[in-house]
Amino acid sequence: MEKLAIHGGEPVRKEKIFYGKQWVTEEDIEAVAAVLRSDYVTCGPKVSEAERLLEKYTGAKHAVVVSNGTAALHCACIAAGVGHGDEVITTPLTFAASANCALYCGATPVFADVDMETYNIDPESIRAHITDKTKAVVAVDFTGQAVKLKEIKKICEEHGLILIEDAAHSIGTKYDGKYVGSIADITTFSFHPVKTVTCGEGGAVLTNDDELYKKIVLAHTHGITHEDELFEDAPHEGPWYYEEISLGYNYRLTDIQSAMLISQMGRIEQYKARRQEIVKRYDEAFKDVPGIIVQKEIPESDTCRHLYIIRLDLDKLTCTRREFFDAMSAEHVQCQVHYVPVYWFPHYRRLGYEKGLCPNAEEVYKGIMSIPLYPKMTDADVEDTIHAVKKIAAYYIK
Ligand SMILES: Cc1ncc(COP(=O)(O)O)c(C=O)c1O
Repeated sequence: MEKLAIHGGEPVRKEKIFYGKQWVTEEDIEAVAAVLRSDYVTCGPKVSEAERLLEKYTGAKHAVVVSNGTAALHCACIAAGVGHGDEVITTPLTFAASANCALYCGATPVFADVDMETYNIDPESIRAHITDKTKAVVAVDFTGQAVKLKEIKKICEEHGLILIEDAAHSIGTKYDGKYVGSIADITTFSFHPVKTVTCGEGGAVLTNDDELYKKIVLAHTHGITHEDELFEDAPHEGPWYYEEISLGYNYRLTDIQSAMLISQMGRIEQYKARRQEIVKRYDEAFKDVPGIIVQKEIPESDTCRHLYIIRLDLDKLTCTRREFFDAMSAEHVQCQVHYVPVYWFPHYRRLGYEKGLCPNAEEVYKGIMSIPLYPKMTDADVEDTIHAVKKIAAYYIK
C-alpha cells in the first residue's frame, strides 16, 4: 500500500495540476495584436466573422456573439419571451447562471431532477414539472454530454415550450450526428477559459429561427436598431437616426475577443480529439476501480467533454468526499466540484427553495469531483492523475 501524501508520503507529482486550463498559442496572440493595430477594437469586422464561423461550424442558421455565457442565457430567455409569472425548468446540477437567467426576467426557475447515471436532466422529470405557467426549458449539456435532445424536444413541442440548450460545456459535441448549436430552439455557448475554446470571457447565442434571431440581436445591444424596416416612428430624421424598440443590454463581444475566438476555433477539432483521448484513457483506467463510479454516456452523444467527473461510491469507501478531495490535493492533483445544487445557495433559500427538491442531484453531488481534463495535458499528467485516484481509492476501500 502506497503511503498517501496527506499522511506524509511522496506526492505522485511535484507540480500541482489543475482541473482545467486554457491553451493559448502564438497565433491567438498575433490575431489579437492585429486587431489592436486596426481601426476597430469593437463593433468591427471580427465580430461578424466570428458569428459566421460559428454558424458554419455548428450548422446553425444564426449566431450572435455576446460578452459571456450568462449574457447568452439572458438573451435567450428574453428572446423566448420569458417574463414575470412564467416558470422555466432547469437542472440543479449546473452553474447558477442556468437558473439565474430566469430570475433576471422576473420568472421562477423550477428544478427538475437528473438521471443517476449521466447526471443530465431527466426528460421525465421535466415532464412532471410542467404547469400552465411553464414557458421554457433550459437543458444543460452537463460536462459536455448532450442531453436527450430528441425526448426533450418532443416534450417541448407537445407543450409549446421553447427549448434553450445551455451548451456552455458542449461546443464541439454532436448529437445524432449534428453539432450542438443547430438542434434546440436556442443554444448558448460560453468561452470562459476552462471551456473548450476561449476568448477570455465570451459567449454566443445560436438559433435557426429568424424571429428569435431578431430578438437576440436586439437584446444584446440595447434593443436599438439602425434598420429602417424595424423603425416604428417613420419617416426618420436623417442618417444619424436609430431607435430603441425594446429593452436591451450591452452584451456585445469586442473585436479583440472575437479575433481570439476565431483563432481558437481553428483548433477546436484538435482540442476535441485530445479531450476524447484523455476521457477514453480515464474511462478505461477507472472502470474497474472499486469505490469509483464513471459517468455514463448515451450513444447519441459524440461528446467533446469539458469536465471529467469521478463519483465516489461512499458506501464502499471509509473516507468522506472531503477527505478524498484533500488527499488528491496533497498528491498535487487539484480537483474541483461541479456543482453545488443551485437551489441550496442562500439566495435561492431566501426565495423559498428547500433542500430535498431533487434527490438524485443531491445524491450525485455528495460523491462527485472533477479531475484534470484539458487538451494541453501531457500523457504523464494523465497517468499521474490516474495514479493519484487509484492510490487514494485503494487506501480508503473498505
Ligand atoms: C453550465 C453553464 N452555464 C452557463 C455558464 C455561464 O458562462 P459564463 O461564465 O461565460 O458567463 C457556465 C459557466 O461556467 C456554465 O458552466
